[in-house]
Amino acid sequence: MDVQDMGQDLEKVLLSKEQIDTRLTEMAAEIDADYAGRELLLVGVLRGAVMVMADLSRKIHLPIEMDWMAVSSYGSGTKSSGVVRILKDLDTDLHGRDVLIVEDIIDSGLTLSWLLANLRSRGPASVEIATLLRKPEAAKVAVDVRYVGFDIAPEFVVGYGLDYAERYRHLPFVGTLAPHVYGG
Ligand code: IMP
Ligand code: MG
Repeated sequence: MDVQDMGQDLEKVLLSKEQIDTRLTEMAAEIDADYAGRELLLVGVLRGAVMVMADLSRKIHLPIEMDWMAVSSYGSGTKSSGVVRILKDLDTDLHGRDVLIVEDIIDSGLTLSWLLANLRSRGPASVEIATLLRKPEAAKVAVDVRYVGFDIAPEFVVGYGLDYAERYRHLPFVGTLAPHVYGG
């Protein structure tokens, strides 16, 4: 799916696929430097982080393992409910592991702060966060994030893994939707 498939539904492209690719390369280099000599467990948060995980992990040179968690804090709307449920837990024992949570976006921060506390209670050596996007003005709780791709304005975005009502995840860029999409 690309710009031309969006018809009138696309308002604007916020981050092109080239911008995303360049930034992920920089983040991977930082991760390689910070964790040199160690073996990371990347924990992807389904479903939004699938694209970030796929592209970021392939730019990391260190040995890594991947595992996935599914949590839910949103319905099909655009506002955080603040209620987090585990829909799918990790298969990996976190004892003594260096864990890096891979996220698509931090909005209110409610999901991530809950997830951090949850994973830290499992006896890992370390837990850090890498997110492609962050909306600083939307923060309801402070979350210490080690790697941030881009800070963006507090508007609803789709693409590169992010959905609106499960659509648009397969856009190669991040963009905003025209108001009529939400109105319908
Ligand atoms: P938070 O708990 O408010 O930080 O929201 C976390 C989750 O809400 C993210 O992992 C996304 O799945 C979803 N989310 C937040 N903002 C957006 C957005 O602008 N577009 C699509 N999904 C979003
Ligand atoms: Mg997410």
